[in-house]
Amino acid sequence: MKRIVITGVTSGIGKALMEYFLEHGEEVIGIARDSKKLESLRVELLEDHDKERVHLYKADFAKMREVKETLAAIEKTFPEGLDALINNAAVFPHKKRMTEDGFETQFQVNHLVPALISLELFQLLKKRQGRIITTSSELHKKAKFDLDDLQALKRYHPLRSYARTKLYNLLFTIALNDRYAERVGLKAFAVHPGKVKTRIGEKGKRRSYKAVWRWFTKKALPPHRVVFTYGFLVYEKDPKTIIPYFHKAQPLRYSDIALNRDNVNALFDETASLLKIDPNEKLT
Ligand SMILES: NC(=O)c1ccc[n+]([C@@H]2O[C@H](COP(=O)([O-])OP(=O)(O)OC[C@H]3O[C@@H](n4cnc5c(N)ncnc54)[C@H](OP(=O)(O)O)[C@@H]3O)[C@@H](O)[C@H]2O)c1
Repeated sequence: MKRIVITGVTSGIGKALMEYFLEHGEEVIGIARDSKKLESLRVELLEDHDKERVHLYKADFAKMREVKETLAAIEKTFPEGLDALINNAAVFPHKKRMTEDGFETQFQVNHLVPALISLELFQLLKKRQGRIITTSSELHKKAKFDLDDLQALKRYHPLRSYARTKLYNLLFTIALNDRYAERVGLKAFAVHPGKVKTRIGEKGKRRSYKAVWRWFTKKALPPHRVVFTYGFLVYEKDPKTIIPYFHKAQPLRYSDIALNRDNVNALFDETASLLKIDPNEKLT
């Protein structure tokens, strides 16, 4: 039985992922931000699955303190190790908002916290030669890389900020592979799930954005139809790692910006510095 951490399990792709891996007999540790939704999810999941395999934790990624507390609890409860971490939670707010930690919300929720979780759970994943899978998007190809404006605050636009965080998901994945795939056997992948019928574009207040999202996803696939790619990346013994970006269980070409190792290294170093983590100390 594999032990898998999944973030953003209260809706959309994350919920479908939690159900998929429970149906495959795995033990799943789900994380999400909303206590009420987590409680109703618990009730729903326990109708079909043993309580020993269902673990749910609350952490609002816009609050670093909460995330760190949850990670400490997970590290204490599962010292034997983890087989996979799926960084899936993300947000698309319709206007600029800063978190209590002083970061632009999407930068923190979609990139900084997944990076923190990957680094904090690194030792547990290393114990089982685990995998870190992060949900990125083809939208990353629209993003620029500007180290002087990493949070995309200049001429702010929510979609530009979202696209950049999806680029960072990919850059961080490549950096993890460069540094740790051969050395400790830990592999990292990013996934483009395709166009999926979820409510991510409707959770802000702007009516126009909501309408565009509904139109955009009118013919999109339901979440349970896209989770097999994650299944492939968890179960396949030797998936190709030269291109660690997958769609429909196949490697997919990514943007030239992500091919540039200067960008990959700069993003990794700046992220570690913002998180006040020394990778040489933490990830040996
Ligand atoms: N849908 C698509 O077409 C599409 C395409 C490409 C990539 N993606 C990516 O797929 C992933 C999943 O998105 P989705 O479409 O399934 O959207 P979704 O249904 O909105 O799911 C997002 C999950 O993240 C959680 N979340 C949001 N803000 C959070 C926070 N501050 N702290 C902790 N958890 C938080 C949500 O919680 P709540 O339930 O409380 O909102 C939800 O569980 C994202 O990484 C997204 O960027 C989606």
